[in-house]
Amino acid sequence: MKGVAGLERPGKRRGERPHGPHEKYNPGVDLSLISVVLKGIDVRSRDAILPVLRRTQEAYGYIPREAVFELAKRLKTTPAHLYGVATFYDQLSLAPQGRNVIRLCTNMACHVNGAESLLEFLCAKLKIKSGNTTRDGRYTIIQSECIGSCGRGPAMMVNGDSYYGLTPRKIERILARYK
Ligand code: FES
Repeated sequence: MKGVAGLERPGKRRGERPHGPHEKYNPGVDLSLISVVLKGIDVRSRDAILPVLRRTQEAYGYIPREAVFELAKRLKTTPAHLYGVATFYDQLSLAPQGRNVIRLCTNMACHVNGAESLLEFLCAKLKIKSGNTTRDGRYTIIQSECIGSCGRGPAMMVNGDSYYGLTPRKIERILARYK
């Protein structure tokens, strides 16, 4: 399935614990960044939502609950609608992420080449579940939809870098490159 340019390959993040609308307000979130996020955006446009969420993630490193509510006011929509969009795309996160975000594809072509067992290996190696971040903030694992390398799977991305033909040994070498 295709999404908006620059944010393709939507999918659900299994195991992640994103915030929801009923959690406590965090006054530590700097809402003055919202004006920067909205700069040059036509907030009346229906097409504004995805670019705004993407910019929000760039500004905060993820999409905080407080930002969702503020954006809903400014975009004249509901927090639920923004949550719906944010949870649809792998690349948008409602939880803070590590310095290095690992997206391991488990879609069909990678699945038949052993992606699930690689995901188990990766989770065991980093001692976290898929969707979570290591205590030191070094890695986040995301079980991902197709990343466009089906013929060379199993495949994963670390930050913006793509890796193919993965094996446990190869994954160990790749991880060592990301501090
Ligand atoms: S199915 Fe894994 S990269 Fe396409």
